[in-house]
Amino acid sequence: MATLSRDTVCFTFRIMFLLCLCLSFSFIPFSSSVQRNDRPIIGVLAQEVFLPKPNQTSYIAASYVKFLEAAGARVVPVILCVVFLVDRILYPGGGVSIISSGYERAAKIFYELAIEANKRGDYFPVWGTCLGFEQLTYLTSGKVTLSHTDTSGVALPLVFTNGSRMFKGFPAELMKDLASEPLTENSHQWSLGTLTYNTNEELRKFYKVLSTNTDGKTEFVSTVEANDYPIYGTQWHPEKNAFEWTRPYIPHSPSAVKTTFYMAEFFVNEARKNFHRFESEEGESKALIYNYSPVYTGNNSSFEQIYFF
Ligand SMILES: *[C@@H]1O[C@H](CO)[C@@H](O)[C@H](O)[C@H]1NC(C)=O
Ligand SMILES: *[C@@H]1O[C@H](CO)[C@@H](O)[C@H](O)[C@H]1NC(C)=O
Ligand SMILES: *[C@@H]1O[C@H](CO)[C@@H](O)[C@H](O)[C@H]1NC(C)=O
Ligand SMILES: *[C@@H]1O[C@H](CO)[C@@H](O)[C@H](O)[C@H]1NC(C)=O
Repeated sequence: MATLSRDTVCFTFRIMFLLCLCLSFSFIPFSSSVQRNDRPIIGVLAQEVFLPKPNQTSYIAASYVKFLEAAGARVVPVILCVVFLVDRILYPGGGVSIISSGYERAAKIFYELAIEANKRGDYFPVWGTCLGFEQLTYLTSGKVTLSHTDTSGVALPLVFTNGSRMFKGFPAELMKDLASEPLTENSHQWSLGTLTYNTNEELRKFYKVLSTNTDGKTEFVSTVEANDYPIYGTQWHPEKNAFEWTRPYIPHSPSAVKTTFYMAEFFVNEARKNFHRFESEEGESKALIYNYSPVYTGNNSSFEQIYFF
């Protein structure tokens, strides 16, 4: 795999193909495979801290790490200055620019690697939550297509529009609850309007809309999956229901918590279709999030715990 040459890259890490699988691993995108990687490692992208302090210039909210761990994955933080090359990645929510930030630059690199990898038959899943979803719409369409919505801090039921890979394995009862109860937490001021999606050729060709929502005025796209790639986005926050408690509008009912788990399980299962691994166990253990300790921030933040880098 190519190494990254960017001035912000402190060092890079090559991920090796498992040779035997490399030969037999053909691109069978969405059928389940007998072969499965039960030790998936997923990168989570860090983003800049709003008011940086020494040793605290970027962060990852711990709920994204717990989200993936709960479904059986291990996490490698993709820190803006220390880029480990991963080929399964989650873009978290947050508040940085999707046009010009370290987060955007790193997201673009991994997005392009994912498109290339998937084209040559390598399964490279990408997930974007909230800001990460907005970032995906920018990376796919090459422009800002978002409009303002009144959706800061509200839980909504999903309006399902299309059959999908993502929700296929969900229990029928949970699907019913997702469609009728406010189980999906929204914390965003910008959204991809359904009308904008319908009139944007690139977005329409690339993504299928799985659900929509409205703030009462504007209908917006709330869940997508790419037609030809294992690329997924939610404008809402599946990770918060089980792991974030500082805001009163985050739902914690049994169905809300199941939503966290089934969403994570879907994406981690996608990651299990990728057989790449670190070249050495030592390299792997140095890269894992376990090398860092989250800080308890409680009610001073919208996150209970944060990893700072
Ligand atoms: C920043 O981290 C380095 C290395 O861990 C440590 O030696 C230093 O004391 C830290 N600085 C501050 C201000 O915490
Ligand atoms: C999929 O969703 C889009 C956008 O909401 C809608 O226009 C289309 O009719 C849906 N397709 C199916 C098969 O439901
Ligand atoms: C929250 O902020 C207050 C005031 O700065 C501080 O005293 C308190 O320790 C902080 N709480 C946590 C959990 O960080
Ligand atoms: C925590 O912060 C939120 C938002 O700032 C506020 O609504 C809530 O009342 C706070 N809770 C406590 C226990 O301070």
